Amino acid sequence: MVNRHIKRKPQAAPKMLILRRDTASFPTVMPLRKSPEQATQEIFDILNRRGQEAYFGEPVSQIEHACQSAQLAENEGFGEDVILAAFLHDIGHLCALPNEDEMPGLGILRHEQVGAVYLRKLGFSEKICRLVEGHVQAKRYLTHKNQQYFDKLSDASRQTLAWQGGRMNAEEAEAFESNFLFELMVKMRRWDEAAKEVNHPLPNLEHYRLMCLHHLQKNLGNGMRSEAA
Ligand SMILES: [Fe+2]
Repeated sequence: MVNRHIKRKPQAAPKMLILRRDTASFPTVMPLRKSPEQATQEIFDILNRRGQEAYFGEPVSQIEHACQSAQLAENEGFGEDVILAAFLHDIGHLCALPNEDEMPGLGILRHEQVGAVYLRKLGFSEKICRLVEGHVQAKRYLTHKNQQYFDKLSDASRQTLAWQGGRMNAEEAEAFESNFLFELMVKMRRWDEAAKEVNHPLPNLEHYRLMCLHHLQKNLGNGMRSEAA
């Protein structure tokens, strides 16, 4: 006979999980991510909160630097993904947790990796994340390849280069050239260097907010992430 008075342990509420097939051949269980609206809001909250901070040792603010980088990409006719990569290439300086290593007075040491991991988690395309991740390597590459580029680096940029591993050697440069995003990464770096104009009018941030939202809606459609190509 069944004893109806036995107390059962309360069942734990099921965790919110989605199944997602990544580039590997096995389905991967991933925690439910933020919606495109929430992710966009989070990024613009960070930019609104910290965008007016100085861009380490340069005469522009973080938000001026981000917008000018994005404008340079847009002026050259690039699409949404490249414009967003340029706009968000330094987000790692602003979204980093307090335990990240810093370059004294020059921001977060591995900001390109911090930024890429953060954007990937929010659902940005692999292409955007890799472009963000590559912008420091592109600087190391250009300083190896081009003495004039090195000579024109600002003091702050020269100091961060030392923290970031210095100029590439020939072997590293050859490997970097074989990256399928190599040319775009170098372009990103050129925009990064140029995006330090003082008294350059700030564009309407709504333009980038809508672009961000559109990208995330497209990239997260059906719970699948687009490939890097
Ligand atoms: Fe930058």
